[in-house]
Amino acid sequence: MIAALRTLIARGARATAMDRLAFASALARDAGKLAHSAFGQSVISLKGRHDLVTAMDSEVERFIRAAIARSYPDDALIGEEEGGSFGERVWIIDPIDGTANYARGIPHYCVSIGYVERGVPAVGVLYDPPHDWLYAAARGDGAWRNGERLAVSPCAELTAATVECGWSTRRSTADYTSLVGRVLGAGCAVRRAGSGALGLADVAAGRTEAYCELHINAWDCAAGILLVHEAGGFTNDFFAGDGLASGNSLIATNAALCAKLAGVTGIPIIS
Ligand code: IPD
Ligand code: CA
Ligand code: CA
Repeated sequence: MIAALRTLIARGARATAMDRLAFASALARDAGKLAHSAFGQSVISLKGRHDLVTAMDSEVERFIRAAIARSYPDDALIGEEEGGSFGERVWIIDPIDGTANYARGIPHYCVSIGYVERGVPAVGVLYDPPHDWLYAAARGDGAWRNGERLAVSPCAELTAATVECGWSTRRSTADYTSLVGRVLGAGCAVRRAGSGALGLADVAAGRTEAYCELHINAWDCAAGILLVHEAGGFTNDFFAGDGLASGNSLIATNAALCAKLAGVTGIPIIS
């Protein structure tokens, strides 16, 4: 009796996640098309040193907020530009991740929409307008790009691994150069492409072996973390403690490199 009830509840939760996945996928595409209409042309201002924002960041966030409020009025919502509040069911959105690229006309940016239920990522969607790539994952249902299933890289050697080291002014230059020095010293190749969300998508797609950053916010990575998990990868426990509200350090990689990269970066991975 109890087992049957549990199965019914699990089926109900899955149906809700699949509804939200379909909704978030359509919304991310529409929001991405809106963003792309002003690619490289939106008015730029500065939130801080090397922290750009464009007029389109706010416009796209308002567009996404209105759609979620219409379809899921009881869910909580946090967005990079306008903040918000947390709840048991919360959407976490970055209207444009990779804003510095977007503002400069560099085609490496995306819309990120994550949905977290009781602290656990349940749905993650990224839309990359320049490539027309929709990355989508629901918990337990795999990670996909335009309908093609994604899997992390099988690479097991640090000396063959490419690791993206995300950077922002939220951590000191000394801490960042130390991180990059350790990753290079371990024999990896290093890159930094300016979108944490797409950096995680690259790990999920097996295009790079790892993404790490000393501090990143939940709107940058909530969707991407689920993509990595559903593609067979591993991350640190980003949402532990205050991660959802205040951000955390982040590492994402495959099973074979987990222990090695945790040692190199000093960020513990759950595997
Ligand atoms: C930033 C990008 C960057 C990452 C930073 C983020 P934004 O977000 O994802 O790659 O390293 O931590 O703040 O400003 O482009 O939305
Ligand atoms: Ca971001
Ligand atoms: Ca942003």
